[in-house]
Amino acid sequence: MKILVLTSGGDAPGMNMILATLYKKFGKELYACRAGFKGLINNDIIPISEFEPLKFAKEAGSCIKCSRCPEFKTKEGFNKGLKNAQKFDVVIVLGGNGSYQGCCELSESGIRTVFIPATIDNDVIISDYSQGYHTAVKACVTTIENTMPTMDAFGRCCIFEIMGRDCSRITRCVSRNYPCDYVVLKKADVNYKKMAEAVRNKKELGQGSCIIVKERILKLQTIIENLQKIDPDMEYRGCVVGYVQRGTNPTSIDLDYARSYARLAINVILKTKYSAAIVYKKDDFDIIYRNEDGSFKSLRKNATKETIKKIITKHEEKTSI
Ligand code: ADP
Ligand code: F6P
Repeated sequence: MKILVLTSGGDAPGMNMILATLYKKFGKELYACRAGFKGLINNDIIPISEFEPLKFAKEAGSCIKCSRCPEFKTKEGFNKGLKNAQKFDVVIVLGGNGSYQGCCELSESGIRTVFIPATIDNDVIISDYSQGYHTAVKACVTTIENTMPTMDAFGRCCIFEIMGRDCSRITRCVSRNYPCDYVVLKKADVNYKKMAEAVRNKKELGQGSCIIVKERILKLQTIIENLQKIDPDMEYRGCVVGYVQRGTNPTSIDLDYARSYARLAINVILKTKYSAAIVYKKDDFDIIYRNEDGSFKSLRKNATKETIKKIITKHEEKTSI
């Protein structure tokens, strides 16, 4: 069998463990595209052993590299990629929502695909859990915990910007697990009067304060300038938590998720002939198969064909915006 794997979109902690587990099973049969769909288009495909996946198994990042590849969304780019994908019996795609869309297009063009949700944002609609989310949340909480003592020492307010693109899941989870003084998940949450009040209350107690904001709502500097207008004597600092969310080595929990995702992908490849997505739903792993007639079915008995169809349709609606 000739199997191809690629990692697309933002890297996610645990991708390397998935790659290493696949390699352990498939050995010489496993090839990798360098840098996701970009490598597929450019036929930059080599045996995965050349990327030494076992060496990086427990590290963050992706040893086969990632990319965002707008060209794959064009007809010409896609067709180039498709031609190269046709040389393989199955193509495994690790990535987020965008990558899933690309994967579905390949599958609809006759390529046998297996998709594994892997993005720190945890926003892949067909799955309740995406590889790397746990590590990203942990990295945020650790950053805030390691920053707040110095804020406390000065009675300062620190505003932390948290990743997630259009999805507030990381920010929401951090807010539940760290006693923040104010949380901004969406634009409507921005209320400078309330924010300044929360900060002042903490200052009066002789403490620093913590505001967390999902990225892409407002620049930290804009928030600080507006808060300073209300309370010019208060000291504000901004902290973009940033790429430690992706670059932190995977937690033990994420390593376990990675092993499970990979093992299920291996089972699907060896025991069936279908395209599939490995998902985590209702506290357990599940496999969604794509039948030859284009319909979907779940391995789990409690998920009906209609449910799966609904999930897929919902996803398509979301990503087509
Ligand atoms: P993620 O997979 O983490 O959500 P992106 O949204 O950046 O990251 O998508 C990663 C890549 O997936 C894109 O750069 C592009 O190559 C591919 N992709 C995204 N959307 C589509 C689409 N609608 N059709 C085909 N390929 C897509
Ligand atoms: O991988 C997801 C993500 O980290 C988002 O949370 C963030 O908005 C985006 O990627 C950043 O992308 P880039 O690495 O291209 O700056």
